[in-house]
Amino acid sequence: MAQKDVKTNLLNHSEAKVRLLGEYLKRYLNIICNDKYTRKIKIFDLFCGEGLYENGGEGSPLVILREVKDIHFANVAKLKSFSQIDCHFNDIEGTKIEKIKRVVEEKSLYYKEFGEIVFSSNDYQIEINSLFELLPKLQNEKAFIFIDPYEYKHIKASQIKRLMDTGITEVLLWLPTQFMYRFSFNGIPQALKDFIEELTQYKEWNKAESIWKFIDQLKIGFQNYMGMNYFVDTFTIQKDTNTVFCLFFFSSHIKGFEKMLEAKWEIDTEQGKGWNYTGNQPSLFHDTKTNPLEEKLRLFIKEKKRFNADVYEFTLRQSFLPKHTNEIFYNWQMMGILDVFLSDGTKARKRAYYIDYKYFRDDPEKVYYKLR
Ligand SMILES: C[S@@+](CC[C@H](N)C(=O)[O-])C[C@H]1O[C@@H](n2cnc3c(N)ncnc32)[C@H](O)[C@@H]1O
Repeated sequence: MAQKDVKTNLLNHSEAKVRLLGEYLKRYLNIICNDKYTRKIKIFDLFCGEGLYENGGEGSPLVILREVKDIHFANVAKLKSFSQIDCHFNDIEGTKIEKIKRVVEEKSLYYKEFGEIVFSSNDYQIEINSLFELLPKLQNEKAFIFIDPYEYKHIKASQIKRLMDTGITEVLLWLPTQFMYRFSFNGIPQALKDFIEELTQYKEWNKAESIWKFIDQLKIGFQNYMGMNYFVDTFTIQKDTNTVFCLFFFSSHIKGFEKMLEAKWEIDTEQGKGWNYTGNQPSLFHDTKTNPLEEKLRLFIKEKKRFNADVYEFTLRQSFLPKHTNEIFYNWQMMGILDVFLSDGTKARKRAYYIDYKYFRDDPEKVYYKLR
């Protein structure tokens, strides 16, 4: 495919990317608009592109505005008060911004009741510097930042950390991991070297033998760099057998992180690569496959006394959802190898595991688990 087409048509892998953006925003806006605390949500799309591609594909600004419009009218119908949503779209090319303005108008995607809409055509560095100024001043506001460059050279781990350190921000970052991986083989360019060295803080970086391992290392690098107060996850998009791109998601709130994982599992399930757990029932027809979450949970619970909040957080940090752990626990209970106790030591009701955000927040030590 010629380079020109890549830039003027929305291709499948980019469609998967904006699909995840939309699925996540739907869940995020639904929770935050409703939390009775957040006055305003600010969405920033810092490399927003032109909005509408020649093949009719809709890019990030239109995906964002559709979600904003949907949630606004759903809120009007059912809530007395809810957060306003401001959107800021930036791209260095002014012509792209002019095109978005036209398309937004033609498709009636923005009404002033939603909140403010801002367009700019600045270099990313200018925009990010003004975010460093702006975000710490906000009160009862939250920010979501989408960063979708063509090249990784624009991005610095320290900038992402600085955005996260404001405590009100979630970031979705697209990195062209495939190109980074390829470069990491023959004569690593200085820009990639700088990126990796900043991320790993000069600790060892192993030459990865596959793109998947390369992405894993980046994820671990980001997690270590950000610290355990933050949640980091990846969403990989395979363009063809040899090409894999990746979105990185950063959140400082476990609930926001859970919503991103839900969006990711939803898309994976549609694509047939979702959760497939059959328990440990022996089968005549195929070997029993070990489930990666099951193995990790087994070690985690055997290690020491684990409460519901521990297991909730552990599940999410492994990129799985509470419903997956519930399935495994149910299977273990049916096999007679899992006991669940209330904190006073009496047995809990069967099938009650309390692995969810509400218990994590309000009753983190409601139950603990013993595995025989
Ligand atoms: C991958 S595209 C964005 C695609 C868009 N998010 C979408 O979903 O359709 C990257 C965009 O970044 C813009 N860009 C390139 N260098 C930039 C810079 N230094 N600052 C801001 N935007 C830049 C390009 O004009 C291009 O539209």
